[in-house]
Amino acid sequence: MKTEIQKRRTFAIISHPDAGKTTLTEKLLLFGGAIHVAGAVKSNKIKKTATSDWMEIEKQRGISVATSVMGFDYEGYKINILDTPGHQDFAEDTYRTLTAVDSVIIVVDIAKGVEAQTRKLMEVCRMRKTPVMIFVNKMDRDGKDPFDLLDELEEELQIRVRPLSWPIEMGAKFKGVYNLYEEKLDLYTPSKQAITESVKINGVNSPELDAQIGTALAAKLREDIELINGVYPEAPLRGDGGLYLAGDVAPVFFGSALNNFGVKELLDCFVRIAPSPRPVVAEERTVDPENDPFSGFIFKIHANMDPNHRSCIAFLKICSGKFERNSNYKHVRFDKLMKFSQATAFMAQKKETVDEAYAGDIIGLPDTGNFKIGDTLTAGEVLHFKGLPSFSPEMFKYIENADPMKTKQLTKGIDQLMDEGVAQLFTNQFNGRKIIGTVGQLQFEVIQYRLLHEYGAQCRWEPLHLYKACWIESDSPEAIADFKKRKYQYMATDKQGRDVFLADSNYVLQMAQQDFPAIKFHFSSEF
Ligand code: G4P
Repeated sequence: MKTEIQKRRTFAIISHPDAGKTTLTEKLLLFGGAIHVAGAVKSNKIKKTATSDWMEIEKQRGISVATSVMGFDYEGYKINILDTPGHQDFAEDTYRTLTAVDSVIIVVDIAKGVEAQTRKLMEVCRMRKTPVMIFVNKMDRDGKDPFDLLDELEEELQIRVRPLSWPIEMGAKFKGVYNLYEEKLDLYTPSKQAITESVKINGVNSPELDAQIGTALAAKLREDIELINGVYPEAPLRGDGGLYLAGDVAPVFFGSALNNFGVKELLDCFVRIAPSPRPVVAEERTVDPENDPFSGFIFKIHANMDPNHRSCIAFLKICSGKFERNSNYKHVRFDKLMKFSQATAFMAQKKETVDEAYAGDIIGLPDTGNFKIGDTLTAGEVLHFKGLPSFSPEMFKYIENADPMKTKQLTKGIDQLMDEGVAQLFTNQFNGRKIIGTVGQLQFEVIQYRLLHEYGAQCRWEPLHLYKACWIESDSPEAIADFKKRKYQYMATDKQGRDVFLADSNYVLQMAQQDFPAIKFHFSSEF
């Protein structure tokens, strides 16, 4: 069992839309032999034309169930790639996916650099100390100076970086990369099927380098490498790869996913240094993937939009041990045993019934409303995994009942959709009204549509101007009581009944932080 677990690499690729995530995923699958032709991976990117038509998005999301997890074997490793929705309105989904991975690859476009969405996702990685690797894509196009880009990466992503490959020119003049990791020169030929021509160079001072790329470029490369070795931390790969594994340094690779250039080098380094499943912290204790019996948690629930088939798929990340078909497992929240005969694994884009799966794997459990995000399954022990935070939403609306005959249906619908993690619900303590908070406008449409089609309930939205909802906490019960009294119009509770402060502007929030030093304001639900 240990060997099985140690060969697992479960990760997500994150990027700003259009940086090349789909293209890179596809090339990785090609290397793994999971697909055989380019173009086989359907982008779950929501097409730009369809941003206001969310039914269209749901059709595309249907496709994305199949591609939610892509498992394949490569050089003795079992690789699980977790796909993340490209559309920023589904960012909450991505945050949660990041709780189920052991490492992350970030794709950055050389011309665009770090964009807003990537910055936010990186915050989640930083919080969790997830090891991160960066692939700078589209080197076949002109872009930023690589040193400037490294500065930008460090500043924007707030992580130290260390290039493991280095580009020689770019755009039309792109010659290839020098691989600092294996000390070889990878020469670039622009072609979609290109197989990289690699030349083993005996160190960067070898005259072979001049012969390959010319004296001028070789001199420039030597200068660059000297600078890199001087400025960036010791290769994070030496020894136990500690700096990378601790989430302190991100190795950087340069390439072109579309031209299949630099991808194999990334993958080869990735399988070697990326972590296998890591210990997971539960409220009760830390769970060891290799030595503990089966445990796992639900991080995503995918609802079937067809009202005739109300089933969902609950995605479970196995944290420890081995899952076996038809074994009894404890559903901790319900304190009851459940057996799964139809769990699915995701291999090579096909769903197949799984007989056994190991820590690191993701399996899909057919669900008829038994699960909610964060639920734990174990071999018998009572465990609650931490680290599935909700983040302060960015958009808020009051939700009102538009059909008084269907109050019950509405309540039930809201309840279940929130359990699925579609959005967050707060109850205003001042007027008792229900507030829905999301990270994107589309979520409101999704909720309204699903309430009607799945629960027969009708809702109406009313505008609400809020800047942030933050969870408050203090060592002093008096301070909390005083704060709640003074801010009574702006207090709400979340679904678990915890106190939440509704700040209607950044200024108000800052003033509150200044005026109430005994109160801690949190922007995610886990603190
Ligand atoms: P995403 O999933 O991150 O949103 O990005 P995706 O892979 O879909 O790539 C976005 C666009 O960038 C695509 O072009 C893709 O072909 C292109 N691309 C990806 N990698 C490279 C690269 O290394 N070099 C260059 N020059 N382009 C790259 P598109 O025109 O939007 O789509 P398509 O019609 O090619 O599918």
